[in-house]
Amino acid sequence: MSQQGLDLIFERVLSGGEVFRDRNLLRHDYMPATLPHRGEQIRRLGSVLAPALTKDRVSNLFAYGKTGTGKTIVTKFVLDRLQRKAREHGRALDTSYVNCRLAGTNYRVIADLCRSLGREVPFTGLAVGELLDRFRSALQSRGSAFLVVLDEIDALVKRSEDDSLLYELTRINEKLTDGWIGLIGISNDLHFKDFLDPRVLSSLGEEEVVFKPYTSDELYDILKERAEFAFRSGVLDEGALRLCAALAAGEHGDARRALDLLRVAAEIAERSRELKVEENHVREAQQKVEHDRVTEALSSLPLHSRILLISVMQLENTRRESSVTGDVYEVYRELCAAGSVEPLTQRRVSGLLNELDIMGVLNARVVSFGRYGRTKKIRLGVEARSVTASFSGDEMVRGLLSYAPRSVLRHQTSL
Ligand SMILES: Nc1ncnc2c1ncn2[C@@H]1O[C@H](COP(=O)(O)OP(=O)(O)OP(=O)(O)O)[C@@H](O)[C@H]1O
Ligand SMILES: [Mg+2]
Repeated sequence: MSQQGLDLIFERVLSGGEVFRDRNLLRHDYMPATLPHRGEQIRRLGSVLAPALTKDRVSNLFAYGKTGTGKTIVTKFVLDRLQRKAREHGRALDTSYVNCRLAGTNYRVIADLCRSLGREVPFTGLAVGELLDRFRSALQSRGSAFLVVLDEIDALVKRSEDDSLLYELTRINEKLTDGWIGLIGISNDLHFKDFLDPRVLSSLGEEEVVFKPYTSDELYDILKERAEFAFRSGVLDEGALRLCAALAAGEHGDARRALDLLRVAAEIAERSRELKVEENHVREAQQKVEHDRVTEALSSLPLHSRILLISVMQLENTRRESSVTGDVYEVYRELCAAGSVEPLTQRRVSGLLNELDIMGVLNARVVSFGRYGRTKKIRLGVEARSVTASFSGDEMVRGLLSYAPRSVLRHQTSL
């Protein structure tokens, strides 16, 4: 490409291009001025948290709902308004937002909280208990209202061997004579509550706010509002917008998915130099978004989850019906032996299978065998060739992709 051609590409982007006026409006982290169809949740959160303005103790709150239903954006929106109001009236109010999954460890969650109260703590090296003491003393000496959002809070519980951090956090107020902490937990795992210590659950769930999946019409309104200033006028075809909403609603009412479809469709139109974003671009975008989702999910899997997924794939290669958990475990153990990896217990493997199911890379369905109890039927949730493509670059498991486990062959001959 000539220098001039390249220059033209850059110039077009600088001027916003022919399709977008401001593509940032479609970014996930962009905070829109209004959040359609979340009035009820905004009001609920607002009224639960409002007493913090006068330093009165607020109830802890637990927000849950499937992915992309607006939990994070609504919570940030309400906290932002609350802080503005506090500033306007000269009230002391501290808030902190931590994404527990991204923070990675209990240590980092609590270290983040200390820092947001102005206490410097080392990046590693202290015991979590020591950090908690420092956090308590920071709260006590500050003596203010402190609202803490623990987003993706399930990561805290599922990851660590003990969920004492949450327990300690829900107990902190008992030891403070001045100031207090209010917790806002957010999760998209609807079964998460089953994992919680009942004492933590009763404290955290003083108030609950549910986020239902968006319907197609609701997604349409959300997209329409965000698209209004994101695109040049006349560029976005009405049918394309409707299709983005319908496809995302068909999935599970996920606004993130709807936004992704719209942005990617527009980028496809832009790259092919078309001046209108139409339904065919949305269809193409859907394939790309799905492909990216699968690739990302697979590439982030740890070793044992990879071996498990390969086990399911090997079973599926040899027979048409779904496999039950026991078969998968048998093949998994054999693959571990072939790869000289110490296998995990069946209990741990069941946990991993659940996670893979939640991520959508596996589909597990509970089936009952009458008085013989229950088991799960398991199938791949993604295409086998995506698994092969993604794992063939991983030296630890590459060999297992072509390894034919004896237990699979035995199952096959017994059919
Ligand atoms: N009512 C709304 N109006 C405008 N944008 C919205 C609305 N609801 C969600 N969004 C947008 O959709 C995306 C997903 O929303 P959000 O991040 O709040 O989902 P979530 O419920 O926290 O999902 P997860 O459980 O995966 O974290 C964000 O980019 C957000 O800006
Ligand atoms: Mg979120």
